[in-house]
Amino acid sequence: MATIKVKDKDFEISIDASAIDAAVQKMAVEINRDYEGRNPLFLAILNGSFVFAADLIRKITIPCQISFVKLSSYSGTASTENIKELIGLNEDIKGRHLIIVEDIVDTGLTLDKFLQDLKKFEPASVKLACFTFKKEAFKKSFRIDYLGITIPNDFVVGYGLDYDGYGRNLPDIYKIVSS
Ligand code: XMP
Ligand code: MG
Repeated sequence: MATIKVKDKDFEISIDASAIDAAVQKMAVEINRDYEGRNPLFLAILNGSFVFAADLIRKITIPCQISFVKLSSYSGTASTENIKELIGLNEDIKGRHLIIVEDIVDTGLTLDKFLQDLKKFEPASVKLACFTFKKEAFKKSFRIDYLGITIPNDFVVGYGLDYDGYGRNLPDIYKIVSS
């Protein structure tokens, strides 16, 4: 199989752009159905979710808003368990129906902390739309309400996901070639 190089590592295709689009479409159909008349506020977690969020929001046909927050627990290709704080939340989310938009859930530590942090702002409800999920790496118990694709426990790049900042621009998702 053809491989590509991102920075100094080799990657092979894992999920192509058409499969990505079909998965996003399926999520959007469910959200459009569930949030009719509820004026949801999407909260997309930067940086990784910017591509997925842009695709998802353009398939949402009901009135909605989107805002962006930042938090990160990752450097290089190994989860550091160094949980960072939530920054950039400048909307009033009290009483709002939130849909958290995330590119990937790996161990789940990042989102678990984030979901706890959100409670003090008293949203009306919080649901999770996550594009990829590394089920085998997951250590927490929160529910992913809208899930794109479950993936094996390999490091992936593309579609907003990065290796040291590179590869976010790739339209497909690639997994690392283990050496
Ligand atoms: P946890 O382990 O807290 O990790 O669920 C979530 C965050 O870690 C990043 N992450 C990845 N980024 N390829 C990436 O480009 C991966 O395979 C990967 N696994 C985890 C990501 O930022 C996510 O928000
Ligand atoms: Mg992320």
